[in-house]
Amino acid sequence: MIQLARAALAPHRRQGAPFLFLLRDMSPRCQMQANALGAKAVLPVGTSQPDLLDRVGAMLGLLREAGPEAVLQQRFVRASAAFADLLEAAGSGDALPVQAISDGVEAINRAAADADLDSWLEMVWRHDDATYQHCLLVSGLVAAFAHRLGFNEADRRLITSAAVLHDVGKARIPLAILRKAGPLTQEERAVVGRHPQIGYDMLVAQGGFSPLVLDAVLSHHEMLDGSGYPRGIGADRISDPVRVITICDIYGALIERRSYRPSMPPEEAFAVLIAMGDKLDRDLVRVFGDIVLGASVARLGKTIAASPVRGSERAA
Ligand SMILES: [Fe+2]
Ligand SMILES: [Fe+2]
Repeated sequence: MIQLARAALAPHRRQGAPFLFLLRDMSPRCQMQANALGAKAVLPVGTSQPDLLDRVGAMLGLLREAGPEAVLQQRFVRASAAFADLLEAAGSGDALPVQAISDGVEAINRAAADADLDSWLEMVWRHDDATYQHCLLVSGLVAAFAHRLGFNEADRRLITSAAVLHDVGKARIPLAILRKAGPLTQEERAVVGRHPQIGYDMLVAQGGFSPLVLDAVLSHHEMLDGSGYPRGIGADRISDPVRVITICDIYGALIERRSYRPSMPPEEAFAVLIAMGDKLDRDLVRVFGDIVLGASVARLGKTIAASPVRGSERAA
Protein backbone atom coordinates (compact mmCIF):
# COMPACT_ATOMS: atom_id res chain seq x y z
CA MET A 1 0.00 0.00 0.00
CA ILE A 2 2.78 2.38 0.95
CA GLN A 3 4.70 1.39 -2.17
CA LEU A 4 1.64 2.04 -4.36
CA ALA A 5 1.19 5.47 -2.78
CA ARG A 6 4.88 6.20 -3.23
CA ALA A 7 4.71 5.31 -6.93
CA ALA A 8 1.55 7.39 -7.45
CA LEU A 9 3.14 10.42 -5.82
CA ALA A 10 6.49 10.15 -7.64
CA PRO A 11 5.60 12.30 -10.72
CA HIS A 12 4.34 15.11 -8.47
CA ARG A 13 7.41 14.90 -6.30
CA ARG A 14 9.57 15.41 -9.37
CA GLN A 15 7.70 18.64 -10.07
CA GLY A 16 8.54 19.80 -6.56
CA ALA A 17 4.95 19.91 -5.27
CA PRO A 18 4.77 19.92 -1.47
CA PHE A 19 2.57 17.14 -0.03
CA LEU A 20 -0.13 17.74 2.58
CA PHE A 21 -1.49 14.54 4.14
CA LEU A 22 -4.93 14.39 5.76
CA LEU A 23 -4.99 11.44 8.14
CA ARG A 24 -7.98 9.63 9.61
CA ASP A 25 -5.64 8.20 12.24
CA MET A 26 -3.19 10.74 13.74
CA SER A 27 -1.19 8.11 15.67
CA PRO A 28 2.60 8.54 15.56
CA ARG A 29 2.81 5.41 13.40
CA CYS A 30 0.56 6.89 10.70
CA GLN A 31 2.38 10.20 10.88
CA MET A 32 5.66 8.35 10.43
CA GLN A 33 4.27 6.66 7.32
CA ALA A 34 3.11 10.02 5.95
CA ASN A 35 6.56 11.46 6.61
CA ALA A 36 8.17 8.50 4.90
CA LEU A 37 6.07 9.35 1.83
CA GLY A 38 7.41 12.89 1.88
CA ALA A 39 4.68 14.77 3.74
CA LYS A 40 5.53 18.40 4.25
CA ALA A 41 2.56 18.72 6.57
CA VAL A 42 0.16 16.34 8.26
CA LEU A 43 -3.33 17.29 9.48
CA PRO A 44 -6.32 15.35 10.80
CA VAL A 45 -8.96 14.72 8.18
CA GLY A 46 -11.51 16.89 10.02
CA THR A 47 -9.37 20.04 9.93
CA SER A 48 -11.51 23.14 9.33
CA GLN A 49 -11.35 24.85 5.96
CA PRO A 50 -9.67 28.05 7.26
CA ASP A 51 -6.98 26.03 9.02
CA LEU A 52 -6.49 23.93 5.93
CA LEU A 53 -6.10 27.02 3.74
CA ASP A 54 -3.66 28.56 6.21
CA ARG A 55 -1.53 25.48 6.03
CA VAL A 56 -1.68 25.24 2.25
CA GLY A 57 -0.79 28.93 2.06
CA ALA A 58 2.18 28.39 4.32
CA MET A 59 3.33 25.42 2.28
CA LEU A 60 3.18 27.43 -0.94
CA GLY A 61 5.12 30.24 0.66
CA LEU A 62 2.11 32.58 0.48
CA LEU A 63 2.12 32.95 4.24
CA ARG A 64 5.00 32.92 6.61
CA GLU A 65 6.38 29.47 7.29
CA ALA A 66 4.54 26.93 9.41
CA GLY A 67 4.00 27.87 13.04
CA PRO A 68 6.12 26.67 15.93
CA GLU A 69 3.65 23.96 16.81
CA ALA A 70 3.97 22.32 13.40
CA VAL A 71 7.75 22.45 13.63
CA LEU A 72 7.66 20.90 17.08
CA GLN A 73 5.32 18.21 15.85
CA GLN A 74 7.69 17.33 13.02
CA ARG A 75 10.54 17.04 15.49
CA PHE A 76 8.43 14.86 17.73
CA VAL A 77 7.58 12.55 14.85
CA ARG A 78 11.27 12.29 13.93
CA ALA A 79 12.14 11.41 17.51
CA SER A 80 9.31 8.84 17.64
CA ALA A 81 10.55 7.25 14.43
CA ALA A 82 14.05 7.03 15.93
CA PHE A 83 12.68 5.28 19.02
CA ALA A 84 10.70 2.87 16.86
CA ASP A 85 13.89 1.85 15.01
CA LEU A 86 15.89 1.70 18.23
CA LEU A 87 13.47 -0.45 20.20
CA GLU A 88 12.83 -2.78 17.30
CA ALA A 89 16.56 -3.36 16.75
CA ALA A 90 17.23 -3.75 20.47
CA GLY A 91 14.40 -6.26 20.87
CA SER A 92 15.40 -8.38 17.90
CA GLY A 93 19.14 -8.43 18.63
CA ASP A 94 20.12 -6.35 15.56
CA ALA A 95 22.78 -3.64 15.74
CA LEU A 96 21.36 -0.43 17.19
CA PRO A 97 20.66 2.16 14.46
CA VAL A 98 23.25 4.82 15.24
CA GLN A 99 22.03 7.24 12.56
CA ALA A 100 18.40 7.05 13.72
CA ILE A 101 19.50 7.64 17.31
CA SER A 102 21.47 10.70 16.31
CA ASP A 103 18.51 12.03 14.25
CA GLY A 104 16.22 11.58 17.23
CA VAL A 105 18.70 13.27 19.57
CA GLU A 106 18.98 16.25 17.25
CA ALA A 107 15.21 16.57 16.97
CA ILE A 108 14.79 16.43 20.75
CA ASN A 109 17.53 18.98 21.41
CA ARG A 110 16.14 21.44 18.89
CA ALA A 111 12.69 21.04 20.37
CA ALA A 112 14.11 21.64 23.86
CA ALA A 113 15.90 24.77 22.71
CA ASP A 114 12.89 26.35 20.98
CA ALA A 115 9.80 25.09 22.71
CA ASP A 116 8.34 25.15 26.13
CA LEU A 117 8.42 21.81 27.88
CA ASP A 118 4.63 21.67 28.23
CA SER A 119 4.13 21.45 24.45
CA TRP A 120 6.55 18.52 24.27
CA LEU A 121 4.79 16.76 27.14
CA GLU A 122 1.40 17.27 25.47
CA MET A 123 2.67 15.31 22.47
CA VAL A 124 4.21 12.63 24.67
CA TRP A 125 0.83 12.01 26.32
CA ARG A 126 -0.75 11.35 22.92
CA HIS A 127 1.63 8.43 22.37
CA ASP A 128 -0.08 5.12 23.05
CA ASP A 129 2.94 2.94 23.90
CA ALA A 130 4.26 3.18 27.47
CA THR A 131 7.90 2.43 26.61
CA TYR A 132 8.04 5.05 23.84
CA GLN A 133 6.22 7.47 26.11
CA HIS A 134 8.80 6.99 28.87
CA CYS A 135 11.79 7.34 26.50
CA LEU A 136 10.38 10.46 24.82
CA LEU A 137 9.48 11.97 28.17
CA VAL A 138 12.84 11.36 29.88
CA SER A 139 14.79 12.46 26.79
CA GLY A 140 12.76 15.67 26.54
CA LEU A 141 13.28 16.41 30.24
CA VAL A 142 17.03 15.73 30.03
CA ALA A 143 17.43 17.91 26.93
CA ALA A 144 15.54 20.77 28.61
CA PHE A 145 17.56 20.31 31.81
CA ALA A 146 20.90 20.32 29.95
CA HIS A 147 19.82 23.42 28.07
CA ARG A 148 18.97 25.17 31.34
CA LEU A 149 22.28 24.08 32.88
CA GLY A 150 24.09 25.79 30.00
CA PHE A 151 25.65 22.66 28.48
CA ASN A 152 27.27 23.35 25.12
CA GLU A 153 25.83 21.72 22.02
CA ALA A 154 28.21 18.75 22.00
CA ASP A 155 27.52 17.96 25.66
CA ARG A 156 23.79 18.35 25.14
CA ARG A 157 23.95 15.88 22.28
CA LEU A 158 25.88 13.44 24.45
CA ILE A 159 23.62 13.56 27.49
CA THR A 160 20.48 13.40 25.34
CA SER A 161 21.91 10.29 23.60
CA ALA A 162 22.41 8.78 27.04
CA ALA A 163 18.78 9.59 27.93
CA VAL A 164 17.51 8.11 24.67
CA LEU A 165 19.41 4.87 25.37
CA HIS A 166 19.07 4.72 29.16
CA ASP A 167 16.40 1.97 29.20
CA VAL A 168 17.46 0.18 26.02
CA GLY A 169 17.95 -3.00 28.08
CA LYS A 170 14.18 -3.09 28.66
CA ALA A 171 13.75 -4.16 25.05
CA ARG A 172 14.93 -7.60 26.27
CA ILE A 173 12.56 -7.76 29.26
CA PRO A 174 9.34 -9.73 28.60
CA LEU A 175 6.45 -7.43 27.64
CA ALA A 176 4.15 -9.35 29.99
CA ILE A 177 6.18 -7.93 32.87
CA LEU A 178 6.78 -4.45 31.43
CA ARG A 179 3.10 -3.97 30.61
CA LYS A 180 1.71 -5.57 33.75
CA ALA A 181 -0.94 -3.35 35.27
CA GLY A 182 -0.33 -2.96 38.98
CA PRO A 183 2.54 -3.87 41.29
CA LEU A 184 5.20 -6.43 40.33
CA THR A 185 6.11 -9.51 42.36
CA GLN A 186 9.58 -9.77 43.88
CA GLU A 187 10.74 -12.09 41.07
CA GLU A 188 9.36 -9.76 38.40
CA ARG A 189 11.09 -6.81 40.02
CA ALA A 190 14.36 -8.74 39.92
CA VAL A 191 13.89 -9.39 36.18
CA VAL A 192 13.18 -5.71 35.46
CA GLY A 193 16.15 -4.77 37.67
CA ARG A 194 18.50 -6.45 35.19
CA HIS A 195 17.79 -3.91 32.43
CA PRO A 196 20.74 -1.56 33.25
CA GLN A 197 23.26 -4.41 32.96
CA ILE A 198 21.55 -5.85 29.86
CA GLY A 199 21.57 -2.43 28.15
CA TYR A 200 25.19 -1.82 29.10
CA ASP A 201 26.24 -5.22 27.74
CA MET A 202 24.37 -4.55 24.48
CA LEU A 203 26.17 -1.24 23.95
CA VAL A 204 29.59 -2.63 24.87
CA ALA A 205 29.08 -5.61 22.51
CA GLN A 206 28.21 -3.27 19.63
CA GLY A 207 31.01 -0.79 20.45
CA GLY A 208 31.34 2.86 19.51
CA PHE A 209 29.29 4.39 22.35
CA SER A 210 30.84 7.06 24.55
CA PRO A 211 31.83 6.28 28.17
CA LEU A 212 29.21 8.80 29.35
CA VAL A 213 26.44 6.90 27.55
CA LEU A 214 27.65 3.53 28.90
CA ASP A 215 27.88 4.97 32.40
CA ALA A 216 24.33 6.37 32.25
CA VAL A 217 22.83 3.14 30.92
CA LEU A 218 24.49 1.10 33.69
CA SER A 219 24.09 3.55 36.59
CA HIS A 220 20.82 5.49 36.14
CA HIS A 221 19.20 3.58 39.05
CA GLU A 222 22.13 4.14 41.44
CA MET A 223 21.54 6.50 44.38
CA LEU A 224 24.07 8.90 45.93
CA ASP A 225 23.68 7.19 49.34
CA GLY A 226 24.53 3.77 47.87
CA SER A 227 20.96 2.40 48.08
CA GLY A 228 20.44 2.00 44.34
CA TYR A 229 21.18 -0.81 41.87
CA PRO A 230 22.74 -2.75 40.15
CA ARG A 231 26.05 -2.10 41.96
CA GLY A 232 25.04 0.00 44.97
CA ILE A 233 27.76 2.57 44.21
CA GLY A 234 27.71 5.94 46.00
CA ALA A 235 28.15 9.65 45.30
CA ASP A 236 31.91 9.39 44.67
CA ARG A 237 31.30 7.17 41.64
CA ILE A 238 28.17 8.79 40.21
CA SER A 239 28.92 11.49 37.64
CA ASP A 240 26.93 14.70 37.16
CA PRO A 241 25.38 13.63 33.83
CA VAL A 242 24.16 10.40 35.46
CA ARG A 243 22.69 12.44 38.35
CA VAL A 244 20.80 14.59 35.83
CA ILE A 245 19.39 11.54 34.04
CA THR A 246 18.38 9.83 37.31
CA ILE A 247 16.39 12.89 38.41
CA CYS A 248 14.59 13.12 35.06
CA ASP A 249 13.97 9.35 35.03
CA ILE A 250 12.32 9.29 38.45
CA TYR A 251 10.29 12.43 37.79
CA GLY A 252 9.25 11.07 34.38
CA ALA A 253 8.10 7.78 35.90
CA LEU A 254 6.00 9.66 38.47
CA ILE A 255 4.16 11.93 36.02
CA GLU A 256 3.60 9.25 33.37
CA ARG A 257 0.03 8.54 32.40
CA ARG A 258 -1.10 4.95 32.72
CA SER A 259 -4.48 3.35 32.28
CA TYR A 260 -4.29 1.75 35.75
CA ARG A 261 -3.27 4.80 37.78
CA PRO A 262 -3.69 8.56 37.57
CA SER A 263 -0.63 10.63 36.74
CA MET A 264 0.89 12.61 39.57
CA PRO A 265 0.70 16.43 39.31
CA PRO A 266 4.10 18.16 38.77
CA GLU A 267 4.14 19.78 42.22
CA GLU A 268 3.54 16.44 43.92
CA ALA A 269 6.12 14.59 41.81
CA PHE A 270 8.69 17.28 42.58
CA ALA A 271 7.93 16.94 46.30
CA VAL A 272 8.80 13.22 45.99
CA LEU A 273 12.23 14.17 44.60
CA ILE A 274 12.75 16.54 47.53
CA ALA A 275 11.67 13.81 49.99
CA MET A 276 14.34 11.48 48.56
CA GLY A 277 16.89 13.67 50.37
CA ASP A 278 20.47 12.38 50.13
CA LYS A 279 19.67 9.88 47.40
CA LEU A 280 19.66 12.63 44.76
CA ASP A 281 21.85 15.67 44.13
CA ARG A 282 20.02 18.44 46.00
CA ASP A 283 21.49 21.29 43.95
CA LEU A 284 20.45 19.67 40.70
CA VAL A 285 17.00 18.86 42.08
CA ARG A 286 16.56 22.55 42.94
CA VAL A 287 17.42 23.66 39.39
CA PHE A 288 15.19 20.92 37.99
CA GLY A 289 12.33 22.40 40.04
CA ASP A 290 12.73 25.71 38.24
CA ILE A 291 12.32 23.94 34.92
CA VAL A 292 9.36 21.70 35.64
CA LEU A 293 7.54 23.92 38.08
CA GLY A 294 8.52 27.39 36.91
CA ALA A 295 5.53 27.90 34.67
CA SER A 296 2.96 26.11 36.76
CA VAL A 297 4.02 27.71 40.04
CA ALA A 298 3.80 31.14 38.48
CA ARG A 299 0.42 30.27 37.00
CA LEU A 300 -1.14 28.80 40.08
CA GLY A 301 0.62 30.93 42.64
CA LYS A 302 1.50 27.80 44.62
CA THR A 303 4.65 27.08 46.58
CA ILE A 304 6.44 23.76 46.59
CA ALA A 305 6.23 23.66 50.37
CA ALA A 306 2.45 23.59 50.19
CA SER A 307 2.41 20.38 48.16
CA PRO A 308 1.64 17.06 49.85
CA VAL A 309 4.39 14.40 49.86
CA ARG A 310 3.40 10.90 48.80
CA GLY A 311 6.67 9.09 49.55
CA SER A 312 9.26 7.84 47.11
CA GLU A 313 8.44 5.43 44.32
CA ARG A 314 10.47 3.15 42.16
CA ALA A 315 11.65 4.79 38.97
CA ALA A 316 11.00 3.17 35.63
FE1 LIG B 1 15.77 2.26 33.92
FE1 LIG C 1 13.78 4.91 32.73
